[in-house]
Amino acid sequence: MAKNIVFSCKLALSLVVLSLFLLTAFSCSKAEVKGMFVFGSSLVDNGNNNFLKNSTAKANYSPYGIDFPLGPSGRFSNGRNTIDVLGELLHLPGFLPPFADPRTEGAEILHGVNFASGGSGILDETGSLAVRGEVLSLNRQIWNFENKTLPDLKAQLRGRGDDRFSDGGNDYLLNYFVPGQTQKPSLLQFTQLLVSQLTRQLKKLYDVGARKFVLFSIQPIGCIPVVRANLPVSNGSCIEQLNEAALLFNDDLKALATNLKLLLPGSNLVFVNSYHTMRTFIDEPLSYGFSDGSTACCELPSHTPEAILCKREGMVCSNRTAHVFFDGLHPTDAVNFKIAQKAYNSCLLEDAYPSNVKQLAQL
Ligand SMILES: *[C@@H]1O[C@H](CO)[C@@H](O)[C@H](O)[C@H]1NC(C)=O
Ligand SMILES: *[C@@H]1O[C@H](CO)[C@@H](O)[C@H](O)[C@H]1NC(C)=O
Ligand SMILES: *[C@@H]1O[C@H](CO)[C@@H](O)[C@H](O)[C@H]1NC(C)=O
Ligand SMILES: *[C@@H]1O[C@H](CO)[C@@H](O)[C@H](O)[C@H]1NC(C)=O
Repeated sequence: MAKNIVFSCKLALSLVVLSLFLLTAFSCSKAEVKGMFVFGSSLVDNGNNNFLKNSTAKANYSPYGIDFPLGPSGRFSNGRNTIDVLGELLHLPGFLPPFADPRTEGAEILHGVNFASGGSGILDETGSLAVRGEVLSLNRQIWNFENKTLPDLKAQLRGRGDDRFSDGGNDYLLNYFVPGQTQKPSLLQFTQLLVSQLTRQLKKLYDVGARKFVLFSIQPIGCIPVVRANLPVSNGSCIEQLNEAALLFNDDLKALATNLKLLLPGSNLVFVNSYHTMRTFIDEPLSYGFSDGSTACCELPSHTPEAILCKREGMVCSNRTAHVFFDGLHPTDAVNFKIAQKAYNSCLLEDAYPSNVKQLAQL
């Protein structure tokens, strides 16, 4: 019993991050986050999909990881994702292990686990609609956390006498905006469905001890290279209808930062407005040190209109730090670094609301 109390007290000092994916962290002493648990989509998947036999959403081949110390690892970028950088800023020892790796158990999980899965979204159906094969839905990710990792973690902590979460854009891209669906709910209804589902999922995490949450916004999905390049209506520019859907959802996520406190006493949630950051890079790349804010750095397969992922062993741009996007959807290491930095220590409310992650960690 006493141990349980110690445990939940420590979990209470943990941090949860969410962004089209979800992340949580735990800490022991003030101002020191001991670990983080990450939930979400391909934006933060660090290799889980490698272990899903049927998944088509994998990034375990060249040129992915071309600038990453471990090479192609399943991360959907040339280098680090935002969670990798956030982990560095929080001084976590090394990269988080992916949940689906059978070696992720025992002492390996003490600094957190990444549950994120490329192609997943808040709704269970997301992913399956868009022929992406097997994915770990957000519900499944949280199930894995509660029913597999948490018991193991408790056993480890009991032995030693010690969270974070993040999710969201795929629900629009891979679910709502998949053409050909009949009986679509209105965008407003759909947004409300996502937000209430997400709130329920956050409550599950709260019920098992998570108190600090970081929620990343959906990115400007109307401006990603695959949308700009392939939709005739786009003519090379952003599709603002898609961006408006993302903004509608993001407004609700931001409101959760204040509303969740009422629903889940003692919890704190930071909303990271990566939409805003990305949009400024896309609209004015030159002002932020980029030369290209609209096309993929890697070669995309031709003849596949929905090509998001890089062509296997395809060509890659020579100056990756000059590009906002690495493939048809995912940002480069340079962008992930800047988003994570703003999340961690920006004092502007348009970047991180109502505080930044550093302040959240110190609560
Ligand atoms: C993978 O696909 C095969 C063939 O379609 C199917 O039989 C199997 O159940 C799938 N496995 C999983 C884990 O989804
Ligand atoms: C864990 O498993 C139990 C039993 O299957 C289930 O009732 C519970 O909802 C699961 N936890 C989560 C977070 O899904
Ligand atoms: C598409 O872009 C081209 C070149 O900028 C322009 O000439 C053309 O009018 C545009 N078409 C539409 C439908 O906006
Ligand atoms: C790469 O791009 C960055 C940003 O545009 C620029 O500062 C840098 O000089 C470029 N490096 C090379 C080798 O061209």
